[in-house]
Amino acid sequence: MTPAPRHVACVMDGNGRWAESRSLPRTAGHRAAETTVIDVIEAARGAGVEWLSLYAFSTENWSRPSNEVDYLMRLVRSVVRKHAALLHARGIRCRFLGVADPRIPAPLARDFADLMTLTRTNRRMTLTVAFDHGGRGDIVEAARSLIRSGVSADAVDESHFAAHLPFPDTPDVDLVIRTSGEQRISNFMLWQVAYAEWTFPSVLWPDFRAPHFLECLHTYQQRKRRFGGVPPHANGESRT
Ligand code: IPE
Ligand code: IPE
Ligand code: MG
Repeated sequence: MTPAPRHVACVMDGNGRWAESRSLPRTAGHRAAETTVIDVIEAARGAGVEWLSLYAFSTENWSRPSNEVDYLMRLVRSVVRKHAALLHARGIRCRFLGVADPRIPAPLARDFADLMTLTRTNRRMTLTVAFDHGGRGDIVEAARSLIRSGVSADAVDESHFAAHLPFPDTPDVDLVIRTSGEQRISNFMLWQVAYAEWTFPSVLWPDFRAPHFLECLHTYQQRKRRFGGVPPHANGESRT
């Protein structure tokens, strides 16, 4: 059996469809997502996951109607403020990946920074919230940073490159969970998911709960990760 994943990342998808299926505005789906977020954080921590990353807002999500974007900015701020003490008490180090666009309201950026500062020495679990995040953008920024460092092209290898990504201590993602049945990457942590396993539960994010999360961990543990190699004792043959 594959050991439990160290780093789990969730593409929290399906809020709009959850609301539309109830004849509610899409924003109601985002509001309902808060309960799931807290449930999943608790479940991950309880299961011994060391790194949990949540995709909350992509660089592409700026193209949504302005009332939805404004609502998300307000909602995320209220969630961060409401749960900051709990996250800290649970020993969770919080980080925000992205947060570069000047359209992000300054008070929200300040609350992100405050929560990062408050929880920076916690080690029980690291929660990375990808907000205004784009995987390609991170890779381009890393390339710029490398070039500025004046390194010679021949000296650049994968680990050297990765050291210029934001939060370079983040380990590779072991498992990605994308809810709502959609099966695409949507520009999420492209570098870090290179060898991740994926699960695509059909449940919409606002209906996703701890048992669904634990089921995904179980599915992961049944997988055989090969990393391009040959599974040990394939077909009973000796590997020599
Ligand atoms: C995910 O739910 C939340 C964000 C992208 C902010 P969606 O809002 O994408 O929900 P669907 O995909 O329209 O159902
Ligand atoms: C991905 O979901 C981004 C987040 C979950 C924050 P989207 O709903 O925006 O992605 P697409 O548009 O289906 O690819
Ligand atoms: Mg979506």
